Amino acid sequence: MKIQILKGDITKIETEAIVNAANSSLLGGGGVDGAIHRAGGIAILDDCMKIRSRQGKCEVGEAVITTAGNLPSNYVIHTVGPVWNGGTKGEPEKLHACYVNSLKLAEEHNIKSLAFPNISTGIYGYPKDLAAKVAWEAVNGYHSEIIEKVIFVCFDDENYHLYSSLK
Ligand code: APR
Repeated sequence: MKIQILKGDITKIETEAIVNAANSSLLGGGGVDGAIHRAGGIAILDDCMKIRSRQGKCEVGEAVITTAGNLPSNYVIHTVGPVWNGGTKGEPEKLHACYVNSLKLAEEHNIKSLAFPNISTGIYGYPKDLAAKVAWEAVNGYHSEIIEKVIFVCFDDENYHLYSSLK
């Protein structure tokens, strides 16, 4: 898997799938969740509602997949990151699971390229340097015969420099 680091808006990225930092309700929110729903349109929410009625909420660390609606991608993989609570309540393991479960779901749908935002580092308050290391290790440690490219899309300079220093 080729790993790239970009600075920009994930709703503009043309990978087959983009990953959303969602919340358990799957009904949208602020941050990247709000941007994806705004840009992708109602089709994404419709799919999320169908998932909700089928399986209920999305647990922290889990991932679900929907259409990407009007976005350049074909799919949105919604994953729920942990809220930072000091780092001793399983946050690293849960964040790691967000990346691994998103990659697994991509493979199940034969998706060859996907882009991640910096999950949990906004509203959920996960320290960016610690989250970057977890994300980097999770993706670098994942070996796939299907996925060819993973892009980390950083929205701010701090995340961009943190990821760039890990490469
Ligand atoms: N493209 C890429 N990254 C973005 C974008 C965007 N358009 N908008 C925001 N980000 C970045 C933020 O700067 C941050 O680095 O996404 C990262 C994750 O921040 P949040 O979106 O706040 O997500 P998170 O910290 O995981 O909190 C999730 O916020 O929006 C709600 O419904 C969501 O309740 C959930 C919570």
